[in-house]
Amino acid sequence: MNETVNVKITSNENINYPIFIGDNLLSDIEYYLKTYVNADKYFIVTNKTIYKIYKKYLNIKNSKVLVLNDGEKYKNLDTYNKIINSAAKCNINRTDAFIAFGGGVIGDMTGFCASTYMRGIKFVQIPTTLLSQVDSSIGGKVGVNTNMGKNLIGNFYQPKLVLADISTLNTLDLRNLKTGLAEVIKYAFIQNSINNQQNINNLLFNYLQENKKHIYDLDKTTLINVVKNCCCLKRDVVIQDEKEKGLRAILNFGHTFGHVIENLTNYSKYTHGEAIVYGMKFALNLSYNIGLISQDYLNTSLNLINDYNLINKKLPKFKFSNIINTMQIDKKVEHNKLRFVLNNENFMVSIINDIDIDDIKNIYNLMIS
Ligand code: NAD
Ligand code: GLY
Repeated sequence: MNETVNVKITSNENINYPIFIGDNLLSDIEYYLKTYVNADKYFIVTNKTIYKIYKKYLNIKNSKVLVLNDGEKYKNLDTYNKIINSAAKCNINRTDAFIAFGGGVIGDMTGFCASTYMRGIKFVQIPTTLLSQVDSSIGGKVGVNTNMGKNLIGNFYQPKLVLADISTLNTLDLRNLKTGLAEVIKYAFIQNSINNQQNINNLLFNYLQENKKHIYDLDKTTLINVVKNCCCLKRDVVIQDEKEKGLRAILNFGHTFGHVIENLTNYSKYTHGEAIVYGMKFALNLSYNIGLISQDYLNTSLNLINDYNLINKKLPKFKFSNIINTMQIDKKVEHNKLRFVLNNENFMVSIINDIDIDDIKNIYNLMIS
């Protein structure tokens, strides 16, 4: 039961690409490349961990593979140089394509390289983590980190094809499965803001409440459903607002405080998803505190997050001034106002630009008490 989601961005040179979601798609990798990309040569970028497991699928005609070290700490300009120089040594040119084979780190870096190599060549996303299948491989945000900030250098650059093979999730460790699930739960809270309608019959929130066991058992049909649902939601955001001029910012639900946690712990103690779990709880409590949602809505929402048992680490104690300073240098600050994506009832959210620092302090104190 394979699924296809098409991304068509009419405002931008008629960008139009398919996302294929299914089980064991990698066995047909050459067919998908030939049919939807048709490049002369392929430059595949992956890392050591993934290469060890999936090497057998990467024996593609007219291709070269670059195997990088594994880790967010390598998502930087040194690795960017390495990828670009290695592609040049392999004589990759404008009729060829880059393939990102891995999680969000590989996808973001490879996409950024593709967007700048020879002023831009085709690229393919083959996401192998749940996070990258539901989020980072779709929508064209690509980039690398610098010492001054995460994803500080980047671009919007859409792939030609996304191939999300859910069988790759069988080899993903539980912690990384959970980090992807945090992003899945994020979509459940923003679902009805995406098409500006209250969809009560097809709620991702209800699906997640009912299918936790199937998800953790890696039931194929359930995973395909979840990935497809999230891809459709992300696609619906991106086609309305590719360059994050407005609506796309709702994808950052849970990210304002989440990024503070990641930043103040040097991106080493918490995965992105773990930080987002605290970020979503923070946003929900703040929404309740300023009267946007009822106690019932708050409780039901927190129950879903807690039920998935996504993190077993405590929220760290930070100096409050560090929290505020970090929020101020994050890209989510506009005109020096603290910007949060906050909940309304019925799985809708709003972007609120002038959050009071005292409210932030109250919620933080509540969460560490
Ligand atoms: P990741 O790419 O670091 O992958 C997590 C770990 O899983 C790594 O050790 C990796 O080697 C391993 N792995 C990957 N696939 C595997 C598989 N099938 N089996 C076994 N191990 C596997 O992390 P991630 O969570 O996929 O992505 C995080 C990155 O994504 C961050 O850099 C974040 O900034 C970025 N991101 C980008 C966007 C976007 O829109 N571009 C959105 C969200 C996150
Ligand atoms: N993950 C946020 C975005 O793609 O905009």
